[in-house]
Amino acid sequence: MRNIHLLLNLLLIVFTLNKYSLVHAKEALAELWDVEDSELLNLLAIEEKLTAADKTLQLLLENYDSSFGGTYLDVKNRTVYVNTVDFSVVPIIINSSELIHSGYLKFIKFIPAPAKNLMATLTFWFNNIVELIKKLRPVNILAYIDIKLNNVVIYYNLKDEINKRFFKSARKFMPTLLQTNSPINRHSRCNETEISQLQILGVRMIKRRILNGEVIFNEIDRMCSVGFWSKNNKNEDLNYIVTAGHCCVDRSQLFYHLPWNYRRSQDSTQVGEMIESINNFKYEFCLVNITEDVYLPTVIRNTDSEDYRELIIEGGKNITSYSNHLCKSGHITHVTCGYVKELKAVSVHPSGQINMGLIIASKEFFETVCLGDSGGPAFSYLQDLSTASLNAITIIVWYDLSIFLPLHIILSKGGVELVRSH
Ligand SMILES: *[C@@H]1O[C@H](CO)[C@@H](O)[C@H](O)[C@H]1NC(C)=O
Ligand SMILES: *[C@@H]1O[C@H](CO)[C@@H](O)[C@H](O)[C@H]1NC(C)=O
Ligand SMILES: *[C@@H]1O[C@H](CO)[C@@H](O)[C@H](O)[C@H]1NC(C)=O
Ligand SMILES: *[C@@H]1O[C@H](CO)[C@@H](O)[C@H](O)[C@H]1NC(C)=O
Ligand SMILES: *[C@@H]1O[C@H](CO)[C@@H](O)[C@H](O)[C@H]1NC(C)=O
Repeated sequence: MRNIHLLLNLLLIVFTLNKYSLVHAKEALAELWDVEDSELLNLLAIEEKLTAADKTLQLLLENYDSSFGGTYLDVKNRTVYVNTVDFSVVPIIINSSELIHSGYLKFIKFIPAPAKNLMATLTFWFNNIVELIKKLRPVNILAYIDIKLNNVVIYYNLKDEINKRFFKSARKFMPTLLQTNSPINRHSRCNETEISQLQILGVRMIKRRILNGEVIFNEIDRMCSVGFWSKNNKNEDLNYIVTAGHCCVDRSQLFYHLPWNYRRSQDSTQVGEMIESINNFKYEFCLVNITEDVYLPTVIRNTDSEDYRELIIEGGKNITSYSNHLCKSGHITHVTCGYVKELKAVSVHPSGQINMGLIIASKEFFETVCLGDSGGPAFSYLQDLSTASLNAITIIVWYDLSIFLPLHIILSKGGVELVRSH
């Protein structure tokens, strides 16, 4: 009898746990930070303080470029870490009135720089490597400064024989080489490319509502995600959907929309036509001229969240600190978040196309982006869980590294501005 009671209790626990995990899907940001949803507001407030402290600190450190590497945040440790090469100037920094009066000092921790490299040296090496990339045209690589590691990193694929000359020349800048087939990349969450054979039978619906992160596709290419709504900065009647450059290939392609929960291609509706531009390749973004009567609220789709299914975009912003959170919405993996790892990476596509000034974000050992998420918005939460500022769009995946094109490049090179629907 006692045993049966125990068994029943166990069953009850199993049942309750199961039910709990079904009902209680954590916010993507809570998953990144590995905390409960209830702690998020507090941590967002801490992150904002740390970002402000880091900005002040970065300005101070500019005068001491022969003493420090980079700086980065750790929200859960409530700390801005400073990679320090020469500790003799630390008392001078600590004594600066900007840090004392702002109360930022208590968040700042000077730690020995792992590779003893100064930020000025890293920047010099990185710039030289970029010059080599332009000259020797390697393919299929990703180069960036890893602030935590305190060195320049080149991610590459061993199979690309054509890169030999480049690597021989790059060696003198002592980059850390990471192979794309290293063990950390084995656990792929992404399914094979979802190239859809959708027949386009779209009925024209009245005022289709299109959320950022939903599906946009054309007749011949894979499906991508809707980035955001923009308008020509000289003619506000010209409205565009921004998506990734490789989502637009042929001249004047027609584009269609699907929600996330579509069942058939009949659910699609035509939205517009791509605008031909050399910037599609040069900068990896594309503008789709909205020609149909659709409604695009400035809202990011976040259906998997219990309480915040639609995130309101409150404007655009540059990211300024390493290890800040960066989330993205896309039709394959929906909303996921990573830590900002780099703000000016250079990627070279297998075709040889070079893209510069890219943001890298990652969640160690996890892929936060899969192929069809390309084009979707990347954002950071403001001081609550229902509003966000737009930072970038998703453009490429490098195994566990997600690559984003910053908003400021799209706005300046596309001659567009953000549209606000409220
Ligand atoms: C943050 O604190 C944890 C626990 O004390 C420590 O293991 C970790 O290394 C710290 N993070 C950094 C970036 O130092
Ligand atoms: C700290 O700054 C004050 C005034 O700004 C100065 O008088 C003092 O000598 C400084 N102390 C150190 C250790 O640099
Ligand atoms: C990949 O496919 C499996 C099986 O069809 C599905 O359960 C899973 O959710 C898919 N993963 C992603 C990231 O779409
Ligand atoms: C975009 O669409 C509008 C409205 O259909 C049209 O007037 C305009 O010429 C198009 N612009 C471009 C650059 O294709
Ligand atoms: C964002 O960064 C770019 C490049 O560094 C700069 O040109 C632009 O002015 C910045 N925008 C804001 C709002 O700070």
